[in-house]
Amino acid sequence: MAEQVLQERYVRALLKQGIGRLREAHVPSFTLAAELLLVHVLGRDRTWLYAHPEEQVSTGDAERFFALIARRANGEPTQHLTRKQEFWGLEFEVTPDVLIPRPETEHVIEVALDRLAVRELRAGRKRTLTGEGLQIADVGAGSGCIAIGLAKELPQATIFATDISSAALAVACRNAMRHGVADRVRFLKGNLLDGVPPLLDLMVSNPPYISRREASTLMREVRDHEPEIALYGGEEGYELYADLIAQAATHLKPGGILVLELGHNSLPAVQPLLDVSAWTNVGVTNDLAGIPRVLAAERL
Ligand SMILES: C[S@@+](CC[C@H](N)C(=O)[O-])C[C@H]1O[C@@H](n2cnc3c(N)ncnc32)[C@H](O)[C@@H]1O
Repeated sequence: MAEQVLQERYVRALLKQGIGRLREAHVPSFTLAAELLLVHVLGRDRTWLYAHPEEQVSTGDAERFFALIARRANGEPTQHLTRKQEFWGLEFEVTPDVLIPRPETEHVIEVALDRLAVRELRAGRKRTLTGEGLQIADVGAGSGCIAIGLAKELPQATIFATDISSAALAVACRNAMRHGVADRVRFLKGNLLDGVPPLLDLMVSNPPYISRREASTLMREVRDHEPEIALYGGEEGYELYADLIAQAATHLKPGGILVLELGHNSLPAVQPLLDVSAWTNVGVTNDLAGIPRVLAAERL
C-alpha cells in the first residue's frame, strides 16, 4: 500500500482508487463517500477536488485518506470518520455516541415552526416568530440537531433538551456552544421529560423507533455503529410513544403543540394514542419518500 500511495499522489488518482475500493466493498454512495473523505483529509471542499485533479497530495495525507477508505469499506459511517453531518443548514459534530442526524428529521422542525406560526396568526399576532416567552422541550436530543435548529430559528425561546445518554448530551452541549445557543438550550439527563418544567408551548421528539426484530435488516453502518439506545424502541419499535404522549399531555399548556417523528410503519400504532379528549388538530406529514413521518397535535 505504501508503495502504491507514493506512486499515486495526484488528487484524481487518489479519488479514483478510493472510489474503486468503496465500490468493491459495496459501500452505498461510494463516490460521494470517497469525495467527502478526501475533502476531509485535505481540508478543502468538493469543488476544489474537481478543479485541481493534478494537484500533488503529501504522502501523509494520502496515507490518512487510504486509512479512512479502509475503515469506510469496513462499514464505519462516513460521518464517524469526518465527525460531522449537516442538518438544517448547520454543521453538527457527530460521534458514535449519537444518532447521525437524518434529512427526514428536518420535517419535525418544519412542522413545529408551521404550527407555531399558525398559532400566532390565530391569536392575531404577527407571523414573524422570535420565540419570545416560548418554552420548548426536545426529548431524546442526541446530537442536539432539533433543539439547536429550533433555537436558531427562535432566537428568544428557551429549550429543554433531554436525553437518557450522558455521552450524547456531551456532544449536544458542544454543538450548542458551536452554534452560539448554549445559553438558551438547557440539557437534562433523564428518562423522557424528567426534570422538564410543565406549561410547555411545544414538545418535539424523534424517539428511538426501530423494532428489535428489524435489526437484521438494517444496514451494517446503522446496526453496528449507531447507538442501540438511539435506534430501538422495543420489540415492536413504537413502545416509547405511549409514555411520550402521556407525559406530553401533562407538560404542554392548553394549545401547546406536540410534534413527533414516526418510524416507517408506526402511524397505525401511534395515532390512536392521541385521545380525542386531550388532543385536537391532529395532522400527519409525509417525508419526501411518501412515508408518514411526522405526527403533530395540539393539547386541548
Ligand atoms: C432517534 S435518536 C434522536 C436523536 C436526535 N434528536 C435526532 O433527531 O437526530 C433518539 C435519542 O433518544 C435518546 N433516548 C432513548 N431513550 C430515551 C429515554 N427513555 N429518555 C430520553 N431519551 C432517550 C437516545 O439516547 C437518543 O439520543
